[in-house]
Amino acid sequence: MSPALQKLLITGASGFVGWNLCQTAAANWQVFGTTFSHPIALEGATLRKIDLRDHDAVKALFKQIQPDAVIHAAAAKDPNYCQENPIESHRINVDASVSLAGLCADREIPFVFTSTDMVFDGTSAPYAETAPVSPIHVYGEQKVLTEERILARYPAAAICRLPLMFGDAGPVAQSFLQPMVQQINTGATVNLFTDEYRTPISGRVAAEGLLLALGKTRGILHLGGSERISRYEFGRLMVETFDFKNANLNACLQRDVKMAARRPPDLSLDSAKAHQLGFAPAPIARQLRDLSSLI
Ligand SMILES: NC(=O)c1ccc[n+]([C@@H]2O[C@H](COP(=O)([O-])OP(=O)(O)OC[C@H]3O[C@@H](n4cnc5c(N)ncnc54)[C@H](OP(=O)(O)O)[C@@H]3O)[C@@H](O)[C@H]2O)c1
Repeated sequence: MSPALQKLLITGASGFVGWNLCQTAAANWQVFGTTFSHPIALEGATLRKIDLRDHDAVKALFKQIQPDAVIHAAAAKDPNYCQENPIESHRINVDASVSLAGLCADREIPFVFTSTDMVFDGTSAPYAETAPVSPIHVYGEQKVLTEERILARYPAAAICRLPLMFGDAGPVAQSFLQPMVQQINTGATVNLFTDEYRTPISGRVAAEGLLLALGKTRGILHLGGSERISRYEFGRLMVETFDFKNANLNACLQRDVKMAARRPPDLSLDSAKAHQLGFAPAPIARQLRDLSSLI
C-alpha cells in the first residue's frame, strides 16, 4: 500500500498563485486551501473560508488540518491599494504572514512565503538574493518588513521573491494577461510601458518553483524567468504567439500614466540560486503556448 500523501496548506487558493499551486501540488500532496471573499470550489483540494487576520481562527485551522507544510500566497498584492490603505494592507501582508510563520515555527514544518521583486527600487538590476533591498512604495516596504520578521521568527522559512506573472487564473483571480486580452478583443488601445522591465513567468511555473523551494531551501530565493522583457515587448510577443490580427498596442512611458504608487523601472531577477535547485523556466513564448486558456 502506498503511504498517505502529506498535507499541504496553501493560503490564497482563490487567488492567482494559490489557484495554480493547488492544481500543481495535487499530484504529490493532499491539498488544503484557504479562500476569503471568493469561496470557490476546486477539484483535488479541500478549501476552507477564513480571514487570515484572525489569529485564533488560523490556530484552530492548524489544529484541525495538522498541515505538514504551508505555502502562504494570500495577500493584498496591488501596490496602489496598499499605498492608499496602508493600515488595512499591513494587517494581511505583514501581521497575518508573520503569525502564520510563527505557527509553522512552533511545529517545525516547512513554510514558504511569497514575496516580490518589488522589494527593489529597479535602478540596479539584475538583482540577486544578496542585493540590498530598496522598496519605493508601501507594498514593497510591507514585503521587506515581513521577510525580515519571518526570518527572525523562523530562520528555516523560505522567502520566495516572485516576478511579474501571467497565465491561467481560475474562476475569480486574474493576472495582467486577462484584462490585456479583453482589451484586444474589444478593439481597445492597450497602453504598455517600454521603460518597465521584468523577468516574468507563468503562474504554473511559479507554482513549480514554490513547490521546489518547499523544504529544500531556507532564506531568500529568487524565482525569476529566463528573459528580461519590457511590458510592451511582452505585449508584442503575446500578439505574435496568438496571432491577434487587430491588436492595437501603444508604446508608452511610466510617466504617461498617473498611479498612486511609483513603479520601479527594472526589476529583473538573477535566479541562479533557484536554477541550482532545478528551477528551469522555459522561454516566455513557450510558457504562453502552454496556457490552457487566455481568458
Ligand atoms: N501576481 C503577481 O504578478 C505577483 C508578483 C509578485 C509577487 N506576488 C505575490 O504572490 C502572492 C500571491 O499573489 P496573487 O497574484 O495570487 O494575488 P491575488 O490573485 O490577489 O490573490 C490574493 C489571495 O489572498 C486572499 N486574501 C486576501 N485577503 C485575505 C484575508 N484577509 N484572509 C484570507 N485570505 C485573504 C484572497 O482571497 P479571496 O479572493 O477569496 O478574498 C486571494 O485568494 C502574494 O504574496 C503577492 O504579493 C504576486
